[in-house]
Amino acid sequence: MFRSSSGAISRALKQAASRSQVAAEQQVLPSAAVATQAAQASGGETVAAAAAQQQQQQQHQSGQRSWKKPALIGAGAAVATAGLTSLAIAEEEADHGLHAPEFPWSHSGFFSAYDHASIRRGHQVYSQVCAACHSMEQLHYRDLVGVAYTEEEVKEMAAETEVEDGPNEEGEQFERPGRLSDPLPRPYPNEEAARYANGGAYPPDLSLITKARHNGQNYVFSLLTGYREPPAGVTVREGLYYNPYFPGGAIAMPQMLADGGTEYEDEEIPATMSSRPRWIVTFLSWAAEPEHDDRKLMGVKWLFILTLVLATAVYYKRWKWAPIKSRRIIVDAVN
Ligand code: HEC
Repeated sequence: MFRSSSGAISRALKQAASRSQVAAEQQVLPSAAVATQAAQASGGETVAAAAAQQQQQQQHQSGQRSWKKPALIGAGAAVATAGLTSLAIAEEEADHGLHAPEFPWSHSGFFSAYDHASIRRGHQVYSQVCAACHSMEQLHYRDLVGVAYTEEEVKEMAAETEVEDGPNEEGEQFERPGRLSDPLPRPYPNEEAARYANGGAYPPDLSLITKARHNGQNYVFSLLTGYREPPAGVTVREGLYYNPYFPGGAIAMPQMLADGGTEYEDEEIPATMSSRPRWIVTFLSWAAEPEHDDRKLMGVKWLFILTLVLATAVYYKRWKWAPIKSRRIIVDAVN
C-alpha cells in the first residue's frame, strides 16, 4: 500500500516536472514556436525549421547573457554596498568619534560596589589636574565625607579655600575659609571666562559627565588615554589636539594624564598612563551616581526579602489548597 502510493507520488512528481519543463520551454522560446507555426502555415518547412533553430540558439545565448548580467549587477551592488558601509562607518566615526570599548570596571558587577580608594585618588587627580579648567558644581565638600575622606580631612581641605560670602554688618562682601557646606570651587566665574581662557572651547562641568555622554565611563577613559599623532593626511588646527574618540577627532583639551606628574599620598602606587584615568573615571562615576552602592545593597536586600515572601506564599497556597485538592467526591446514585 505504502509502496504503491509512493510510486504514485513519484509518478505525479515526474509528470509535474515534465509539464513545467514544457511550460518553461514554451515560455523561453515563444518567438521560435511562433516562427515554426508561421513557416508550417506557409509550407516552407525546412527554411522555417532552420529559422526556428537559429532563433532557438539565439534565445539560448541570450538566456545565458541574461544570467550573466544580474550576476554582474549583483556583484557590483555587493561591492558598492560594502564600500558604502565602510564609508558610512568611517563617517560615523568622524561624526561621533571612535566607539569606546568596554572596560572591566571593578564596580560594574551585579553585586560590586565602588572601589573607594580609587574615588579618593580620583578626587586627588581631579583637584590637582582637572579642577584648573573643569568645575563640578553639583559636588559639595560634605559629599566626600565617609566616601573618600573622614570629616576632619574634608574640613581641613575646605578650610584651605577662600570663599566669598556676605554681606557683613557693614554691607560688604568678604572672604572666609571654606566649610563643609560649600560647593567645590569653580575655576572660572562664568562660561565666557572659561571660553576665553580655552581658545573658545568650553570645558564642561564634570559633575554628571559619565551620565551625559554615551557609554560615559568607557568614553571618558578612552578620551583621556586616546591622544595620539594625527594619521597621515589629517591636519589639526592650531590649538586643537587629535583624539579619535572625540566627535570630529579634534579636541581643544590638551593631553592631561601622561606618565608621572601628579603626587599622591600613598606613594607605593605608581601613577601610570592608565591608573590615573581609571581613578578619575571611578571618581566621576561616583559623582554622577553617588547612590550606586546603596542602590545595589538595597537590591540585594529586596531580593532576599522577596525570596522569603515567595516561599511563604507558595507554602500558604499549598496549605490552603491541600484539603480541596485531596478531597474525593463520590456520587452514589441509588437507582
Ligand atoms: C587646560 C584646561 C583643561 C584641563 C586641565 C582639563 N580639561 Fe577637560 N576639557 C577642556 C576643554 C577646553 C574641553 C572642551 C573640549 C572641546 O570642546 O573641544 C574639555 C573637555 C573635556 C571633556 C568632555 C569631552 C566631551 O565629550 O565633550 C571631558 C570628559 C574632560 N574634558 C575631562 C577632563 C578630565 C578628566 C581632566 C583631568 C584629568 C580634564 N578634562 C582636564 C580643558 C581642560
